[in-house]
Amino acid sequence: MSKSKLKIRNIIIMILLALVILWGINNTISTNKLANKQGAIFTPDNAKIVALGEDIYDKNCASCHGAKLEGEADWRNPKEGGFLPAPPHDKSGHTWHHTDTLLFNITKYGFAKISNNENFKTNMPVFENVLSDDDIIAVLSYIKSTWPNEIKQRHDELNASGAQAQ
Ligand code: HEC
Repeated sequence: MSKSKLKIRNIIIMILLALVILWGINNTISTNKLANKQGAIFTPDNAKIVALGEDIYDKNCASCHGAKLEGEADWRNPKEGGFLPAPPHDKSGHTWHHTDTLLFNITKYGFAKISNNENFKTNMPVFENVLSDDDIIAVLSYIKSTWPNEIKQRHDELNASGAQAQ
């Protein structure tokens, strides 16, 4: 093989390697990759993760969503300035109406990013640089662990139907 052909071959190999690495990085942050075949990311049956999640909840979420996940009073009506109060995360709220993937993305990236609207008016913080992915999974696993079995089951079904749609 001539020298210039070897050079081209090396460049092609380097480009391919870079693509593989980029693809890998992209996949580690992709939540689709986090979900199992049933579309589930959270582990509400894992006592260790749930205990960790409860601690994270108390420190990072309870101030707004309530110590008992009850949300702010009159949470359906916007406050002055158009901001919505923090909704409950128990069965009376609509957290369980959303798949694991969506809940993870809301918590990690925030409403502005996931709705592609940087002017989205909300008091919900972005946790991307505050909590690790594992912490976010733990806190949401804790939230799910508090739901009655029937709600957990319906949420599992929602996850599974979301997984099929992807
Ligand atoms: C400073 C107050 C505040 C804190 C702290 C906070 N949130 Fe929120 N959160 C909100 C508000 C307000 C909303 C309603 C969003 C809106 O404006 O539409 C919300 C909405 C949400 C939703 C969407 C619920 C739904 O039914 O659509 C999730 C999920 C959520 N928060 C998770 C968390 C988690 C997990 C934490 C802690 C790691 C947390 N939040 C901490 C204020 C807060």
